Amino acid sequence: MAHRFLAACRRKPVDRVPVWMMRQAGRYQPSYRAVREKVGFLELCRSAELVAEVTAAPIVEFGFDAAILFSDILIHLPAMGLDLSFERGEKGRGDGGPRIANPVGSRAGVDALRVPDPERDLPFVRESIGATRRALGGRVPLIGFVGGPFTVGSYVVEGGSPGFGRLKAFLWSDPATAGALFEKLTRAAVVQIEAQVAAGVEAVQVFESWLGELSREDLQAFSFPYLARIAEAIRRSGVPGILFSTGTAAHLEQLATLGFDVLSVDWRIPIGEARARVPGVALQGNLDSALLLGPADHAAARAVALVRAAGPEPGYIFNLGHGVPVGTPPETVRAVVGAVQALRWDQG
Ligand code: CP3
Repeated sequence: MAHRFLAACRRKPVDRVPVWMMRQAGRYQPSYRAVREKVGFLELCRSAELVAEVTAAPIVEFGFDAAILFSDILIHLPAMGLDLSFERGEKGRGDGGPRIANPVGSRAGVDALRVPDPERDLPFVRESIGATRRALGGRVPLIGFVGGPFTVGSYVVEGGSPGFGRLKAFLWSDPATAGALFEKLTRAAVVQIEAQVAAGVEAVQVFESWLGELSREDLQAFSFPYLARIAEAIRRSGVPGILFSTGTAAHLEQLATLGFDVLSVDWRIPIGEARARVPGVALQGNLDSALLLGPADHAAARAVALVRAAGPEPGYIFNLGHGVPVGTPPETVRAVVGAVQALRWDQG
């Protein structure tokens, strides 16, 4: 029988709601911080042995129902010709953000970008997926991922954590060049999806985190056509596809037509309302991530209320609206996971 996470992606009935969290492997865990004492972030992403260890740790520690490959949505940018680094986060603040020393701002810059060859340029991804599948031993499915073209493009154009001003000016002043950029980033996403599925991932999530920055008109011009092609590539590969974005509750009906099996929504919309609006897709989400920084019993109670509001209709996966925040007490994660996993529909 398919694992309950994969069944829920396909809107099939499950014994209980599957639970995982974006950034379930990260700095809130003492075990992750211990690994990062020894290696830099990119070095970690490029070591199959460490990726397997870090990806499997939250499954062992908290009993999540799915694992997500430890990597980054910007991991392929060096192979595209961009000089990527991650700054060490300030002590206590923990925002070691990405920096691109040679951001793209012209047609020549876009033309110079190479679409990566995963086998040649990113062999560690295939090795990491193999090592992680072995470490998981079939207990839970492994989710692979890529960044969405708009979100990756925002880093490529802004050169670091995006303010979106430079990017939007670029879109509107030179739409043809912006289109060429998104085209290349789409091709880069598609080849990575194919390589990840061939290496053994069992679902693919597209992180299009900053989509909520765009108006409907600009979504239609600069995002939806590319996302539809990515959804089609995932569909061809045979695994379920999840589209994650934030701040996009106004566009749910449009997102549901792109061809993804699952939409991951944030807390700005009540889950029951979202379910009623897009009955043709599965939904994932949408606990306010910041609840994990408050009292554990309150976070657990809100998680239970969320699952009840999502209702017994097949096609719901518990997650946060964004990632686990740095500084989350691990016991709060344990309390939330335990509370959701204890729920059964026949208990009402
Ligand atoms: O969910 C997972 O944990 C899987 C692995 C993963 C990471 N980043 C690990 C990571 C995934 C899926 C991502 C996606 C990602 N990366 C996004 C989209 C999702 C989102 O959060 O909106 C973005 C925008 C990036 C780019 C990126 N990588 C930023 C902005 C940062 C620094 C800020 C931050 O959140 O730490 C990173 C670094 C990064 N990626 C860390 C981790 C665990 C922290 C690295 C460390 O210092 O140890």
